[in-house]
Amino acid sequence: MAILVTGGAGYIGSATVELLRDRGESPVVLDNLVYGHRAAVPADVPFYQGDVGDRELVTSIVTKHKIDACIHFAAYAYVGESVKDPSKYFENNTLRTNELLNTLRECGVRRFVFSSTCATYGDPVRIPIDESHPQKPVNPYGWSKFMTERILESYDTAYGLKFVALRYFNAAGATERCGEHHDPETHLIPNVLSAADGELPFVSVFGSDYDTPDGTCIRDYIHIEDLANAHFLALEHLRGGGDSEKINLGNGVGFSVLEVIETARAVTGREIEARMEPRRAGDPPLLIADATKAREVLGWVPKHAGLRSIVESAWNWRLENPNGYSEEL
Ligand SMILES: NC(=O)c1ccc[n+]([C@@H]2O[C@H](COP(=O)([O-])OP(=O)(O)OC[C@H]3O[C@@H](n4cnc5c(N)ncnc54)[C@H](O)[C@@H]3O)[C@@H](O)[C@H]2O)c1
Repeated sequence: MAILVTGGAGYIGSATVELLRDRGESPVVLDNLVYGHRAAVPADVPFYQGDVGDRELVTSIVTKHKIDACIHFAAYAYVGESVKDPSKYFENNTLRTNELLNTLRECGVRRFVFSSTCATYGDPVRIPIDESHPQKPVNPYGWSKFMTERILESYDTAYGLKFVALRYFNAAGATERCGEHHDPETHLIPNVLSAADGELPFVSVFGSDYDTPDGTCIRDYIHIEDLANAHFLALEHLRGGGDSEKINLGNGVGFSVLEVIETARAVTGREIEARMEPRRAGDPPLLIADATKAREVLGWVPKHAGLRSIVESAWNWRLENPNGYSEEL
């Protein structure tokens, strides 16, 4: 039996495809390449360029490859853009996911692992954030994922769909093959590394007057290999007859923007100019996960909890791939 991986040509999806293949699984990738890269998918993994909302295509893939589970990464994930153009986010992230779920249901696929996000919590009322923390998203991106979680719950009750919604905190780092190549790039670590190798003249620090030890925002960074492994464990959980779950994925440790920049200076040995800019709307000062449930339910133990090893892996990938995935197949 094979696993449909939507968005498998993207950053986290491609690392998960790699890990699944290494564990003897048979991933099949569906990605429309709006943001993904064909070269991020190993040549020996079946790849389909298309949309998750294309019912005919999804049905034919499920039938041809005898798909018995789906890991659904495909989504748009630019928070700022979601505020300016919410329709794009609800359409792609919520409505097309609903189409995908209906197609899978018709085809008898009952196991689903979903890329959710800490953005479904909104502004934290307590730290660390566990899964029972109130969910009040503060942007349409967060709402688009929040609504998908509610759809999944309803489909479980009505149709017996079993799902694991993984609420990631900040994905970071690289494997030997897979790294972060977004265009535009909004994530801190790749932008700091762009400033280190001269692609950007400086890195912007949005807000230095927060109520944190050094005044900059604190985030929980999680290595994509650890994220990928959590998806494999979530599949195993479902295959073992486990119940539907919503589970945080983070390290439970926070690092400030200035700590990330300092670590990148140490790792790269380069100058990195940091420019203080005003706060961005909707950036909470602190986001740190309580990932106890991931350990208890999935037996998940992150291997790359240190910031240095995360930044090092991202830097090594960058040195090996100075143009990212530009050499498309
Ligand atoms: N990167 C993070 O820190 C982070 C944090 C929390 C949650 N997430 C979620 O994890 C998932 C993966 O994130 P990522 O950083 O790898 O993003 P990404 O943009 O690198 O990957 C998403 C992939 O989905 C594809 N895609 C988008 N819409 C599609 C559609 N309708 N049909 C087919 N393919 C489509 C894109 O081409 C891209 O390859 C997303 O759902 C995102 O919301 C990411």
